[in-house]
Amino acid sequence: MSSIRFVILAALLGLPFPGQGAPPAEAVSAGAAAGARLPENFRPFTARIFCGAQPEGDNAFRALRDAGIGLVLSVDGATPDVAAAQRQGIRYVHLPFGYDGVPPTVVAALAQVVSTSPGKIFIHCHHGKHRGPAAAAIAGLFEGSLDQAGALHLLEAAGTGREYEGLWRDVREFHGVPEGVVPAPIVETAPVPDLVSAMVEADDVASRLKDLLGVADEQALSEAARQAVLLREAFLEMVRLEEAAPLRPGLLEASDLATGLREAIATNPRSAMVSLDRIRAKCAECHRSERNNRSSGIPIHVFTKLSPTAP
Ligand code: HEC
Repeated sequence: MSSIRFVILAALLGLPFPGQGAPPAEAVSAGAAAGARLPENFRPFTARIFCGAQPEGDNAFRALRDAGIGLVLSVDGATPDVAAAQRQGIRYVHLPFGYDGVPPTVVAALAQVVSTSPGKIFIHCHHGKHRGPAAAAIAGLFEGSLDQAGALHLLEAAGTGREYEGLWRDVREFHGVPEGVVPAPIVETAPVPDLVSAMVEADDVASRLKDLLGVADEQALSEAARQAVLLREAFLEMVRLEEAAPLRPGLLEASDLATGLREAIATNPRSAMVSLDRIRAKCAECHRSERNNRSSGIPIHVFTKLSPTAP
């Protein structure tokens, strides 16, 4: 469906026209209640489309509600905290996608959300720097409130990594919703491939490890040792997934490095941070070749498969 038809549909349904009557962004952030903190990297993309990091806990959702947000849209692989959003009367939509670009099914679903949901929308990924901004830019382009130059400028300002070429490409080359594409389902919690869930878990464990090794007292080190075991197990669990078959050698290397970290914590805690850095370098190395580019040939990001395109 073309963007014009969406706008006409929205008008027929009596929905507020995107951006209508929105106060300036500064007024929105200033309006947040004391104690309630907006998610990190919170920034306006248009008068009614905002973007940032994953909201953590009730305070973050309260701040979003106070900022006038009525709908939170996650493009991250982690399961959204739907209950926390509901406690503030906020609706959730989950449209997960990877770092290699915004799939057409997601573009179509974003367009549907923008045209049919009145009010302010907050779009987030994990850190609010790469996938969230790309989705927010596409939503703004579809809405007609951003042009290509403005959208690319916003990605720059959000700190979107140049290595995520597919995200930049899909914003730069956006020309409306492609014909014949069936939108990804608009649901609160979308099914996510096991590999992605396991990566989200590995990411959480790796950030906890960084914090714990930063403190490095006895208690922190004993917890870090436990987390290093969890990290190793997360990688071994991924090795068993069929969809991860082409990644096995890299995943096994990463699990060996996690074993090394566990040993370093026990025998020479001073070297543990170096050990963790080695793991993070491994994460980045694999992501460069297997995650951030559609040309890698690995049939990942199965989300597109979950929402097939029309014949
Ligand atoms: C051997 C390869 C490999 C290694 C090692 C690896 N990853 Fe990944 N990671 C991937 C691939 C491939 C994807 C994309 C999966 C998809 O989109 O279907 C991914 C996706 C992710 C995602 C995105 C999840 C989402 O929301 O879509 C995060 C976060 C992540 N990895 C974190 C990590 C961290 C942290 C480490 C290291 C501790 C790590 N990964 C190590 C291959 C790897």
